[in-house]
Amino acid sequence: MKNTKHTLNHSTNNHWRTQFHIQPPTGLLNDPNGLIYYEGVYHVFYQWHPDGPTHGLKSWNHVTSIDLVHWTPDKRILRPDSIYDSHGAYSGSALVVDGTLQLFYTGNTRTSDDIRVPYQLNARLATDGIVDKTVIIDHIPSGYTDHFRDPKVFTTAYGYAMILGAQRQDMTGTALLYTSADLKAWHFAKELTTSLESFGYMWECPDYFELEQKGILLFCPQGAMNSPRSNTNIYPNAYIIGNYDTDHFDMGNHTHPHLLDYGFDFYAAQTFIDQKGQRVLMAWMGAAEGGYPSDKYGWAHVLTLPRVLTLVDNHLYQQPHPNLVALRTDAVPINSSLCSYELILDTIQGALDIDLYRYQDECVNLRYDTATQTLILDRSALKNTYATERGETRTLCLDEPLKDLHVFRDTSTLEIFINQGRYTMSLRFFPQHIEGHVKIKTLNDSAIKILYPLEDVNHDL
Ligand code: FRU
Repeated sequence: MKNTKHTLNHSTNNHWRTQFHIQPPTGLLNDPNGLIYYEGVYHVFYQWHPDGPTHGLKSWNHVTSIDLVHWTPDKRILRPDSIYDSHGAYSGSALVVDGTLQLFYTGNTRTSDDIRVPYQLNARLATDGIVDKTVIIDHIPSGYTDHFRDPKVFTTAYGYAMILGAQRQDMTGTALLYTSADLKAWHFAKELTTSLESFGYMWECPDYFELEQKGILLFCPQGAMNSPRSNTNIYPNAYIIGNYDTDHFDMGNHTHPHLLDYGFDFYAAQTFIDQKGQRVLMAWMGAAEGGYPSDKYGWAHVLTLPRVLTLVDNHLYQQPHPNLVALRTDAVPINSSLCSYELILDTIQGALDIDLYRYQDECVNLRYDTATQTLILDRSALKNTYATERGETRTLCLDEPLKDLHVFRDTSTLEIFINQGRYTMSLRFFPQHIEGHVKIKTLNDSAIKILYPLEDVNHDL
């Protein structure tokens, strides 16, 4: 099934390269940036350090697609080539205005004394490159530190709004709101009002959007939801849902923060609207700790698959984008040996114990305990380990019985959608032998089981 036609011969090639995820040709990928659908084309940019699998000088690398499934590199890369982004073109967003694709991002700079000075910049995507870089916010409002970045720009009933990740001078994290009538002159409005007064020390990569007349804030509160005793990722990606009051930038009576994903490798999620008007999420499938096994081949990290978001009973659901069906080939017996697949388990009742990857004594195991309604994701039986100080299992306590699982494996990635996407768990794993079996150890006989091998479409990435 694997298509071996690779037009690029990267020194990075190895069996952990993915077959349908966005991945860097070489070097390190982190946050998704500037996600947008524009004139029939999906644009995805991502934080990119081309020179190696480390957090060095960042550009926005650029890929496009007409269907969110087949991706092609685009030469229009946002590079840190001005004095206002000399130490990195950091994260940001995109907006189409009067038929022009505008990018908004943070220019990271450092003084000769190594003091960080962030600028918020605007640039335009033109046919021959990214042009017209201008500074739109040149200072940090008083009361906040130099951790002031990652603009998400969106349209409101009154004009334009920008939400930025920030740190107060008392070292707590927050999000700041700016407004503009013309996208050029920006005014600091206020902090977004939430009840999360002291929740992490810096909020990175905020995103704000509305579903079902509710306001939803995605954010990465560094240092929150974390305790040395619980096995969690070093930095969480969380969300809250509130009754957003646009006049007062108030999230109103919002929910407790929930994790967006309960796996190992997930951060910096951003959203956009697809061709059909659906709200779609993509995230960095990685974590801040370095030392991934693929580093030795000169590359690190991928983006998650595109996931459609819906809001049901004050809970954000994520489901694999329907266009991914195009990757399917004919269904095969459940114990087939594959390096990528889509697995559907439906009408699950009672306990479950399944190896999502098994080859000899290496496995990634998922088990469900009915007494505690808990799912345990376990990658401890793999030989190529990383980030083990944060534990080799992740535990998810469901608020309803386990009913179904929808799993995508792509060589070194697993994305698990639970109960129609009410919860997700995402992880990288680096098996010695790439082909492996799905091995069901415990599952009710009446459960529906379907396994599709998936196509390799990453010939150019
Ligand atoms: C989140 C982040 C952002 C920043 C970018 C730099 O992973 O730290 O806050 O803009 O990465 O690469």
